[in-house]
Amino acid sequence: MDAAATVAAFWAAAAPGWIRHADRHDVRGRPLGEVALRSLAVRPGERVLDVGCGCGGTTAELAAATKAGGAGSDEGGGAVGVDLSAAMIEAARSRFPAGRHPGLRFLAADIETLDVVPGGPFDAAYSRMVLMLLADPVAGCAAVRRSLRPGGRFAATVFRAGNAWLPAAMLGAAPHLGALPPLPVGAEPGPFALADPGRIARVLTAAGFADVATEPHDVVMEAPDEPDDVAEWLIELGPASAPYRLAVPTAQHEARAGAGKLLARFRDPGAGYRIPSALWLVTARNPG
Ligand SMILES: C[S@@+](CC[C@H](N)C(=O)[O-])C[C@H]1O[C@@H](n2cnc3c(N)ncnc32)[C@H](O)[C@@H]1O
Repeated sequence: MDAAATVAAFWAAAAPGWIRHADRHDVRGRPLGEVALRSLAVRPGERVLDVGCGCGGTTAELAAATKAGGAGSDEGGGAVGVDLSAAMIEAARSRFPAGRHPGLRFLAADIETLDVVPGGPFDAAYSRMVLMLLADPVAGCAAVRRSLRPGGRFAATVFRAGNAWLPAAMLGAAPHLGALPPLPVGAEPGPFALADPGRIARVLTAAGFADVATEPHDVVMEAPDEPDDVAEWLIELGPASAPYRLAVPTAQHEARAGAGKLLARFRDPGAGYRIPSALWLVTARNPG
C-alpha cells in the first residue's frame, strides 16, 4: 500500500470514533486550534477554507465568524470544510445542516489531489492538527496555497515533540486490543512528522508559501472527572481507535482501564483532567 492509500485506510477506520466523540472533541479539543483561530482573526464577509475539517465543528465556527449578523445571517462570507473521510463529512453535514448555516459547505476530497478547492478563492485557510498526517504535505499545502487569493493567509497547528497523553492512551490500551497499525517512522505521516520546525518551513516553502513562521505554544485540554469517558475519547482519537472498536466489551473495558491508569497523572480527582499539549502555530501567506 502506498502512503496515500495507508492514510485513507487509517481515516476510514478511525472515522466512527471521531464521529462518536465529535461533540466532546469540539469542546475539549478547542485549545488545539485556538491560537490559529486567533492568528487568522477572520472578518465578516471573508471566505475561509478549513483543511482536514473532520466532523466540521471548526468550519462552523469559522463560517460564523464571517457573518457580521451572526451564524444565521445570510450576507456574504462563508467557510468550506474539506476532509478525506466521506463519513466524517456526512457527519459534518448532518451536525451543521446547510439550511441553518448559510455559507457553510463541506466537501469530501483528498486535498493532495485537488487543483484548487471549489468555492474559492479564499481569503484565509485554517487547519487544526492535519498537516503532519498528510501523505504528501507539499502537495496538500500547494493545493491550499492555490486556493487562496493573492495575499491570502494560512494558519495551522501541528504537534511539537512531547504530548505524553498520546502515547499514554495508546500504550495503556494496546495490551488489551488486537494489532495496532504500524507506528510511523521519520517523515511518514503521523502525529510528530512536522515536529521539526525546519521541516515545516521546507514543506510550506516548497508549496509556494511566503512569510512562513512557526511559534511554539503550550496549551491545556480540559475534561470532566470521568476517567472511563476520557480514556475512550483519547483512545479513539489515536491509532488504537479501530482495534478498540473491533474488541469485545470486556477487552474494551480493560483498554479504558489501562489507558486510564497512564492518564491518571493528568487527573485531579473530583476536579477533572488537565492535559498539556505542545503545539506549533504555523503561519504563512500566499504571495500570489
Ligand atoms: C487529527 S484529525 C483532525 C480533524 C479536525 N481538524 C479536528 O481538529 O478536529 C485529521 C483529519 O485530517 C483528515 N485528512 C487526512 N489526510 C487528508 C487529506 N489528504 N485530505 C483531506 N483531509 C485529510 C482526516 O480525515 C482527519 O479528519
